[in-house]
Amino acid sequence: MAKGFKGLRCLLASACIAGAFAVPVYAAINEANQPAKAKTIAELASMYDSSSCKECHPDVYDQWQNSLHAKSILGTPRTAPTILTAIDKGVKNFPYSGVKEDKDLQVKHLMICAKCHLPQLEDATDDVAKEIVSTIRAWQKEEDTAKLKDLEGKITSLNIGCTVCHNQKAIIHKWADGFPQSDTIYSTSKTGAHDDAKFNKMGKAPALKESIFCGQCHGLGPNFELEHPSQCATLYGSYLYAYVPEGGHETCQDCHMKKSGLGHDMQAYRSEKMRKMSMDVEVDGRALYWRKNKADGVLPLGVVNVEIMNKTGHVVPDG
Ligand code: HEC
Ligand code: HEC
Ligand code: HEC
Ligand code: HEC
Ligand code: HEC
Repeated sequence: MAKGFKGLRCLLASACIAGAFAVPVYAAINEANQPAKAKTIAELASMYDSSSCKECHPDVYDQWQNSLHAKSILGTPRTAPTILTAIDKGVKNFPYSGVKEDKDLQVKHLMICAKCHLPQLEDATDDVAKEIVSTIRAWQKEEDTAKLKDLEGKITSLNIGCTVCHNQKAIIHKWADGFPQSDTIYSTSKTGAHDDAKFNKMGKAPALKESIFCGQCHGLGPNFELEHPSQCATLYGSYLYAYVPEGGHETCQDCHMKKSGLGHDMQAYRSEKMRKMSMDVEVDGRALYWRKNKADGVLPLGVVNVEIMNKTGHVVPDG
């Protein structure tokens, strides 16, 4: 339970006068309105748990589970080790980061990756940042297969799940469209009641079907809003500044979810379907006898023209 809730309870209970004096009324109420921060990986995973969605949206769930969004900290599994490299070779060596050892890590230090790989980390305490790092370290060292699986499960419990996209990141222009509500699932068009126990309402997120929605994580370039800007994915930048000006008019969702037929299993070159959509290659080869003719036994000069046309909506490869 959050400190704020205790403060409020103190305020209401007449037996707790001293407590009430210690906490100004407005502070207690403001704090009480904030959801309690997760103090462990397990608490954060359960705040953003997607398992209830599986029952009624089984096809979408299976597609999602096959995507990298379902393991956005583990990755292929290249992401988790790279996070440690960023901490050990970067953050700990920077003179002004405030980090010399793992125990100094705060949420903000992981946010240079979690901004996109786990945006809900902003709802967790610094203890969770430390627990993520210690779990990845343990996973790297573990040799027992069963324990390795457990650790991997703990890491993949942190992911870009249904409620990250359909709640936390669903609304981009919050002054115009409102702040995401804790009981609402956002869709492209529907409003009204929703059968889920916790998310029992549906709301409209105007940007969910637009490329800008994916652009929140798929990158424009350096993340200037951070104390120490990081840069990883930059593909949304190339979409905006190259594909669209060249006349491209398809959205990320058009190609990755609809044309591909993959729905929520958003994929790139690992999928045969995406590879087929990715480029046109024309090869034209000929033999050129440039010095003497064939009868003299001279080998020809080989001339090969290769024309590659990128048919995606952005640079390849990314980052
Ligand atoms: C008990 C069943 C049930 C559960 C659990 C459930 N849903 Fe739904 N959901 C539905 C039904 C039924 C609809 C269609 C409502 C309608 O069309 O009016 C729906 C609609 C939606 C839509 C809008 C679809 C559209 O066409 O725009 C989204 C998004 C969605 N659910 C996401 C989720 C997520 C995320 C979860 C887990 C947190 C979840 N649902 C859990 C039954 C469920
Ligand atoms: C601006 C958002 C953003 C930030 C910040 C970010 N990433 Fe990424 N990262 C992505 C996206 C999106 C992808 C997947 C797209 C792609 O592969 O092109 C990705 C892919 C990766 C991959 C390859 C994925 C795999 O599974 O093999 C690694 C590794 C990675 N990121 C590590 C990091 C680390 C470490 C940090 C922090 C130092 C970081 N990223 C910061 C968005 C970001
Ligand atoms: C990476 C972001 C992302 C994640 C994760 C995600 N969704 Fe979606 N979802 C979308 C977008 C974007 C659309 C709208 C696509 C369109 O119509 O343009 C959508 C559409 C839907 C729809 C309505 C259309 C359809 O495909 O049936 C449902 C239902 C839905 N999502 C449920 C879920 C559930 C359940 C999960 C978790 C298993 C989930 N989504 C995870 C981005 C996401
Ligand atoms: C909350 C942040 C977030 C949002 C929103 C998001 N993505 Fe991602 N996406 C990621 C991250 C992070 C990864 C890489 C995970 C990893 O492997 O470490 C990724 C991976 C992918 C990949 C696989 C890349 C590869 O190298 O195989 C594709 C394709 C993709 N996303 C498409 C989309 C599309 C399309 C949308 C919008 C409908 C979208 N994403 C929305 C963060 C996001
Ligand atoms: C015109 C269709 C099209 C559009 C529009 C499009 N993509 Fe792609 N994208 C593809 C295809 C095809 C690939 C597979 C090429 C590959 O990965 O080699 C791909 C690859 C990717 C990759 C992996 C890049 C890599 O390093 O190989 C990511 C991530 C991605 N897309 C995300 C997005 C996002 C986010 C948007 C919107 C800003 C988007 N795509 C718009 C067709 C499209």
